[in-house]
Amino acid sequence: CGIIGILGRGPVAEQLVDSLKRLEYRGYDSAGVATLEGNHLERRRAEGKLKNLEKRLRGNPLSGHTGIGHTRWATHGKPTESNAHPHATDSVAVVHNGIIENFRELRAELEQSGASFASETDTEVVAHLVDSYLKNGCSPQEAVKASLPRLRGAFALAFLFKGHDDLMIGARKGSPLAIGHGDGEMYLGSDAIALAPFTDTITYLEDGDWTALTRTIGVIYDSEGAVAHRETLKSGASSLLVDKANYRHFMAKEIHEQPEVVGQTLARYVDVAAERIALPFKLPFDFNEIQRISITACGTASYAGYVGKYWLEQLARVPVELDVASEFRYREAPLRKGDLAIFISQSGETADTLAALRYAKAQGVHTVSVVNVPTSTIARESETVLQTLAGPEIGVASTKAFTCQLMVLASLAVAAGKSRGELSDQDETRLAHSLVEIPRLMAAALATELQIEKLAREIAKSRDVLYLGRGTSFPLALEGALKLKEISYIHAEAYAAGELKHGPIALIDESMPVVVIAPYDRVFEKTVSNMQEVAARGGNLILLTDAEGAAEATVDSLVTIVLPDMAAIFAPMVYAIPVQLLAYHTAVVMGTDVDQPRNLAKSVTVE
Ligand code: G6P
Repeated sequence: CGIIGILGRGPVAEQLVDSLKRLEYRGYDSAGVATLEGNHLERRRAEGKLKNLEKRLRGNPLSGHTGIGHTRWATHGKPTESNAHPHATDSVAVVHNGIIENFRELRAELEQSGASFASETDTEVVAHLVDSYLKNGCSPQEAVKASLPRLRGAFALAFLFKGHDDLMIGARKGSPLAIGHGDGEMYLGSDAIALAPFTDTITYLEDGDWTALTRTIGVIYDSEGAVAHRETLKSGASSLLVDKANYRHFMAKEIHEQPEVVGQTLARYVDVAAERIALPFKLPFDFNEIQRISITACGTASYAGYVGKYWLEQLARVPVELDVASEFRYREAPLRKGDLAIFISQSGETADTLAALRYAKAQGVHTVSVVNVPTSTIARESETVLQTLAGPEIGVASTKAFTCQLMVLASLAVAAGKSRGELSDQDETRLAHSLVEIPRLMAAALATELQIEKLAREIAKSRDVLYLGRGTSFPLALEGALKLKEISYIHAEAYAAGELKHGPIALIDESMPVVVIAPYDRVFEKTVSNMQEVAARGGNLILLTDAEGAAEATVDSLVTIVLPDMAAIFAPMVYAIPVQLLAYHTAVVMGTDVDQPRNLAKSVTVE
């Protein structure tokens, strides 16, 4: 969920909505704002996208100069208007990101003392809890201070109080929150992006901090209640909202941008002229001293990590463990001090990945994050940041961030192989040369679009789709299945091609297309055998391969998509393009909301 608060010099409702547009990546189930109108709190809330809230505000405007706003990704309670934030009593309104884990106990207790609840959310208990202290005669500051220790879980909160036009209180535990300093105005926001239209002067609250803001000063308290001094920074977040150019969807634009942004990322990590890996700075560790690497991420970023595992193991001969962050953070993985943990995240705000990073730091390992948003929490908290230069990614289904993550991981794997003595100078040049070729090959892969568009009309008729691949094509198959289900809502699954015979083959019939990702590499023939097994059972195959693979694969009922010849090791970056295009065009045929599919968020900031 996303939070914004403004102590303004004029009416703030419009600015709140403007900021919520930038926060929509954190959820778009419902949204709302509250302002102080004279001496009382007023709210406008709406189910669904922000445009519904805008419509509501047009019909019933707010003119207050002090306000808070929220865009929601539902956790407790359906995405209805009554569950939308802000939640309020007569005296206090609150917006919240995170989860209050002990809300049931608190709710029961508050109901017993007479509070009546209007929503199913965990957040509403916070409003009633603070209200109960206000009723006992506490000041707003005292009420928040007394309430915070009673809340279990991770949260960021922003409060407004009836009768206090020059006051806003924010609190942070686990979930990020930042103060923005304006000229006679003050702001609170989930991130620098939310604050970018108003100010670039930012103070991040630390864990356990809370703050009382007026239009001119912000006092920060730590969890012990002592006044705390936190550094004020200049944020580099851009205030520009990105547009779709001439594309129908952001996702289409972002797929087509890949040759360019992957090229920019390449140029950051590879000396293109000399064909050598050239990281922009010296890493604070020696790869020779690393015995094991752990890679952690969520969703698409975890599949980039999975490809990275194959590369690091093959090129640098270092064992790599890959985890999804929600498992890693709780499985108490033993990490050896001085080893390396890599975290991959487009947004740099994913709650599980952030928690995994903090766990790793506490174990004394080196931390590298591969992130796209340099002002993000994960970037700020990592020892080393290897930025992807994908530019803002708006489509919820990640595309260009994924291939840029792959480019960073490929460069890092070659660098690691070189320092560990596994790769010679010639190997490095050969691999760097292959990387330099990638943007051009990606551009060539875009030429398959017309063929894929036609194919998508067939895929759109299916109920289930299977994706198969071996080696680095296996994680790409996982990514293909994820892309298809998240935007077209067609069920899809991916298997390592060799695993087909151990179960999923039972599903094969004429109605289930099987997408096989198989560049002509050393496991190609094995994959062809698996394709034969599918064909023998009447399955319909779609093969993504190169010219050589197309010539070798003699299997019935086959649609072949031919991609450019290339160094097979880096194929996932190029093969990602037809995989993304297939999901995209299928979703277009299905008529779904491609850029903001149902139930999802671009970045999930709750665990
Ligand atoms: C969400 C998105 C996915 C994304 C994942 C990780 O679930 O819907 O597309 O891959 O979060 O996001 P991150 O910003 O950490 O890469």
